[in-house]
Amino acid sequence: MKHFLSVLLIFTGWMALQAADPLQPNPPPNYEYHQGSFDGTGKWFLDREIAHFMSHQGAPWLEREERETEEAPNRLVSALSLKPGYQVGDVGAGSGYLTWRMARVVGPTGKVYANDIQPEMIAFLRTNLLVRGITNVIPVLGTTTDPRLPDNTLDLILLVDVYHECDHPWEMTRRMTDALKPGGRLVFVEYRGEERWIPIKPLHKMTATQVRKEMALHPRLAFVENLTNLPRQHILIFQKKPSVPASSH
Ligand SMILES: C[S@@+](CC[C@H](N)C(=O)[O-])C[C@H]1O[C@@H](n2cnc3c(N)ncnc32)[C@H](O)[C@@H]1O
Repeated sequence: MKHFLSVLLIFTGWMALQAADPLQPNPPPNYEYHQGSFDGTGKWFLDREIAHFMSHQGAPWLEREERETEEAPNRLVSALSLKPGYQVGDVGAGSGYLTWRMARVVGPTGKVYANDIQPEMIAFLRTNLLVRGITNVIPVLGTTTDPRLPDNTLDLILLVDVYHECDHPWEMTRRMTDALKPGGRLVFVEYRGEERWIPIKPLHKMTATQVRKEMALHPRLAFVENLTNLPRQHILIFQKKPSVPASSH
């Protein structure tokens, strides 16, 4: 009985601590399901219809030559201010278009965890790395709710053209925040939804306001800045607040 009472006391104390911690992620608002665009998923999050994810059959599009001028990938990587030795996540890495560029910057003392949900994309990525002789990348097959990255480890996580197609955006953000070190940065690169001239389907673009609204559900993250010096995309940077506990996943 005495033992039972002390266990109960510890449990109640722990529950009270959890309830009192303002930095624990808020519960997600319900996802909604209703009729949407002809090419949408019909699943909605905070008034945004989630897009279908890009099939691995589209991998050659990710490697198209025009991407250099349309997206300026080297300018993007230098805007991230990566340093040798950094541990970086590339979530939704696809064929590895950004992975190998970041791997070169973080160098042999650093590491890039290249995640995707499609095993075929991971296979493309492995070939891409092999051809370039890159050895500091760890490919990770994730799920749509968990990128399977190590907790409290990463200096930066990058998602290029990915977040709008995550079918569980709240769960993914919670687990990516767990994976960041305190002070680590979470970076979303999305085609600018504010600009109609950008020739990308509407569900595959995002406005800065929408991304910030969705991140506001995660009290462990603070908005840092929105860089718009790429030809067509936002670089939206958030930071994990210092000294915050991991979520109880
Ligand atoms: C348009 S591609 C972009 C690939 C890469 N970031 C690039 O810029 O070349 C989107 C990728 O995100 C992946 N993806 C979609 N939802 C995901 C999720 N929840 N977790 C990880 N990857 C996801 C898809 O499988 C696809 O490879």
